[in-house]
Parts: sequence; structure tokens; C-alpha cells
Amino acid sequence: MAGEGLLDLGEHRLKDLSAPERISQVGETGFPPLRSLHRTNLPVAATAFLGRTRELADLVELLGRQEVRLVTLTGPGGTGKTRLALHAAAEAADAYPDGVFWVPLAELRESELVLEEVARALGAEDDLAAHIAAKRALLLLDNFEQVVDAAPQLSTSLAACPNLHVLVTSRELLLLPGEQAYPVPPLEPQEGVELFLARAGAAAPGFVETSATRELCERLDNLPLALELAAARVRVLSPEQLLLRLGQRLDLLRAGRGVDPRQQTLRATIEWSHELLGPDEQRLFARLAVCRGGCTLETAEALCDADLDVLQSLVDKSLVRVRDEGRFWMLESIRDFAAERLEESGDAEQLRRRHAEYFLAFAEEADPQISHESKEWLDRLEREHDNFRAVLDRRSPAGEDELALRLAGSLSWFWATNGHVDEGVRRVDDLLRRFTRQVPARAKALNGAADLAAIAGEISTSRLRAEAALDLHRSLGNSAGAAHSLWQLGYAVTEEGDWAAPCGCSRRLSSSFASSVPSGRFSERRERSPTRCSGPASGSRPGPCTRRTCSGLVRSATETWRRRCSGRWG
Ligand SMILES: Nc1ncnc2c1ncn2[C@@H]1O[C@H](COP(=O)(O)OP(=O)(O)O)[C@@H](O)[C@H]1O
Ligand SMILES: [Mg+2]
Repeated sequence: MAGEGLLDLGEHRLKDLSAPERISQVGETGFPPLRSLHRTNLPVAATAFLGRTRELADLVELLGRQEVRLVTLTGPGGTGKTRLALHAAAEAADAYPDGVFWVPLAELRESELVLEEVARALGAEDDLAAHIAAKRALLLLDNFEQVVDAAPQLSTSLAACPNLHVLVTSRELLLLPGEQAYPVPPLEPQEGVELFLARAGAAAPGFVETSATRELCERLDNLPLALELAAARVRVLSPEQLLLRLGQRLDLLRAGRGVDPRQQTLRATIEWSHELLGPDEQRLFARLAVCRGGCTLETAEALCDADLDVLQSLVDKSLVRVRDEGRFWMLESIRDFAAERLEESGDAEQLRRRHAEYFLAFAEEADPQISHESKEWLDRLEREHDNFRAVLDRRSPAGEDELALRLAGSLSWFWATNGHVDEGVRRVDDLLRRFTRQVPARAKALNGAADLAAIAGEISTSRLRAEAALDLHRSLGNSAGAAHSLWQLGYAVTEEGDWAAPCGCSRRLSSSFASSVPSGRFSERRERSPTRCSGPASGSRPGPCTRRTCSGLVRSATETWRRRCSGRWG
């Protein structure tokens, strides 16, 4: 829409969390600022948000209290914690001029990584607490139950950042002082019916409410995920039939004690939905559980032998979800169930092996590409990060550690450049300790460890790793790998301020590059390096060899080297 008297207000994410829209206003004055979302990474949901008026008001009020810094939404899987938290965060956004940040933690298994994930979401390059400082920001930590051990770290951040508010979703409380619990109630009966009707209408256009609908929703405890799974079947089963079949299933389960009834309802509904699948669907459903953080269509086909129609059918049945960028994934409760089916199938071990090899091949393909610092490759790696983590988290027999070590070596540069330095350091060091055979994978991982340590500011560790990498690469006859080690070694000794050493390094670097890199920009620098880096002058002032010269040399050398050695660097 454009025309006279219209003022273009640009693109805005409106607070109902729909996709950004171009907004115009009629006339030039007289309207308050738009209530839209800037500084946020809150995801846009594929379906409309329904009901929850009271809960939203409660949460906005709670977050508005200065003394309430941490609110935890609890409840079993499928209750609607995530959806409610996302909406409440969007509603409250005006109170947080410095931003509202969503940090999904469902796929994380290591509590040590929580703060690093938070730092990434905020774009914090240095210390997280220093980055947030007195800023007024809201953090939404989604699915904290897997990483509850990180609760004390969260407490420390809250203490250091006086205007930070945190909204958590978790199946259990964090048990921190000052934590405000907010158990998420079931939907109101009318809201439950609305949700069921909305999803049923999407599955079978023209679907109309029948007398059994309300009773069915009540039998499903108005639990959003259970309602969605049931509604996905209305093309084949009427609400009366659903009530009869699912009702029987639920009756059988009522015996269990000490468990939240909603948890039983969800379990029963997932089981029921699964039983109605055909053998091909059941097989694919179980196999998809091998991936963590979802997968692309190509991966589903190559790794899980997915047939497109079968995959589509799982999506239609609400068991698998698909995101805009073409990733297939499952809600946690459903994936847990699928993982149990995979274990029962007898295929699990072999499929995990294939999964590991598949993602190793991907990382090895990506590794030389990211040396060009291609954003596209970094993004692709980031999207598969949880799959890499799944491979690395499996405690494998010693023989398979070599695969993990190769993977870690190939991911080092990604970790170093994409905000995962701590994670990279821990993973590579751990694997180097566990797998000590003097093989190419180890040499490459040592180079990775040297890069990561340098970026973490652990210069002497970086030097030690680079030295070890250099020795091993030499004994294995890999000159490109050795050039990498030398470059990192040159950097480390320069940073350490050992003025005599870099010159030697630079020269060794030069000759190593000369043998692995034929000509070009580097040889120009090689000409200059021995004379310019001639060691410290006598007296206290450094002579021609300044820190800058040496670091500049190694930095520009590496750029050339990466370009030249792409595809064969070690
Ligand atoms: N108020 C709501 N409006 C629309 N859909 C909802 C609502 N609450 C939950 N859902 C849907 O129900 C499913 C489960 O909700 P989710 O927030 O993922 O639950 P939890 O985080 O408690 O496991 C999701 O597909 C979600 O989109
Ligand atoms: Mg959730």
C-alpha cells in the first residue's frame, strides 16, 4: 500500500510474533510509537497463539515488578510453557529497551555450556556479566530442565546484572533464592476447544465442532500437545471415534501414581498416535530420533532413508514439525518417545554410527570452506551444531574416539570463530587426553587446540599445542599441517613477547609455506620477513622487530595459507 498522505514506518515485527510487516500510517502525526519488537531474536511461530489471557496478564505483571528477577514456568511436556513464555516475553518487550533474547536449551546436555549459549544469543564478545552490566534486558531460557546444574551460574549472573530479568521454562524448578514459580495451568475448557478446532480445521478444512469435541478436549486435560495430536487425525476419525479410542487408552493408564496426570495423558496420546502409523512411518519416526536439533530433508533422506511422502505424513500427524528453513524436528516429549522406539528397533547402534560418519563427512567438507570465513558455511555448521554435539557426547569405545577426534579437529575453526571457544577448548582437550595414538587425526586436533587456546588468550598453552602439532605433522610428513602449526607457533611466541624466537619461527614458517604454497602474496612477505624480523635491538627498545610486525606477518601469512591450502590443510 502506498499513496499520498501515507508515511512509511518501515518493517516491524509486531507483538503477536507474526512475520515482519511493512507498516504505513495515514498522516504524519498523532500516533504513539508502534508496539513492535526490535532487539529480539524471538522466533515466529507457524500457528496462531490462542487464549491464555489471564496467564499473560499474570506474567507481564510479575516481570514488571523490579524485585522479581527470575520467573520459572513449570509443567510437564506439551503444556504450552514455551509458547506462553515466548508470548509473555513479546508482551513485556517494551520494558526492556536493551532487548529480549530467547535461548533454546532443549538440545543442550552440558550445563557448562549454558552461559556460552546465552552470550552467543546476546552477541557478547567478552565476559557475559560485563556485556549485560546494567542493561535492561529479558532473557528467556527455554527448556532448562536438561541443564539444571547451571542454576548457580545463572544466580551469579543475576547478582552481577541488576536490571536483568530472566524467564525460564522448565519441567522442574531451579530452586534458586528469589525464584518465582509459575506452574502453567491447563488451557481453560473453552481455550482447549478453540485450539482443537483451529488445528482440526487446518487438517480438514470445513471441520465442524460436534457434541463430542468438548468432552474429548477434557479427556485430554486440555493439554495443548495432546489436543494437537488428536486434531491431526480428524480427516479419518470423528471426534466421537477419537473419544472412544483415545478414551480407552487413557482409562488404562489412570492407575499410575505419583505422576502428573497430564504427563500420563500426553504419553498415552503419543503412544496412540504412534500405533496408528503404518510400518514405514513408524520406522522413519524412530530413525529421525537419531538426529539432535532436527535435520534437513537431504539428511533425512541420506541418513534415515526417508521417503518424502512418509515424512510428509508424519508432519501431517503433528509428530514431526518443519521450520521455514526446511528443517524437520520434533518437540522434546515426542522425540523422547521416538528415541525409545529407536532403541527397541535394534537399528540404533548402526544408525548412530552412520549419523556420526555422515556428520563427520559434512564437517570435513565444511572445514576448508570456513577458512574463507564464509558466513554461509558458518551458518550451516551452526544449524547442525546439535548433531555434532550428539556425536561428541556419545561416550564411545576407544576405537571410535578417533572419529570424534577427527570431528573435533574439523570443527575447531568453526568453534573458534563462531562464539564457541570454551566449548571447543573443552571438547578438543578432553579428546586429546582420551585418544593418544599418534595419527593424523591427533595432529589436526592439536592444531585445532592451538588455534582455540590462542583465541581464548591461553598463549602458552597454544604454543605447547602448536609445538606438539608441528612435531607430529612432521613425523607424519604433512607439510600443510606443519605450516599451520608453525603459523600458530609464530603467533604464540610473538604474543608471548619472546622477540628472538619469532624471527626463527617466521623463517621456518616461510620455508614451510614455500614448500606447500608455491608463490603469490606470501612469497613477497617471505622476502621481507627475515630482514624486518631481525630480533630485538640491543637496549630496552625493540628494534625493527616489533610485536606488530611479527603478528602482522603471521596474520597475513595465515590468510594466504588458508586460501592456498584449502582442501588439504591438516
Ligand atoms: N496458547 C497456545 N496457542 C496455540 N498453540 C499452543 C498454545 N500453547 C501451546 N500450543 C502448542 O502446543 C504444543 C506444545 O506447546 P509447548 O509450548 O511446546 O509446550 P511445552 O513447552 O510445555 O512442552 C506446541 O505445538 C504449541 O505450539
Ligand atoms: Mg518447551
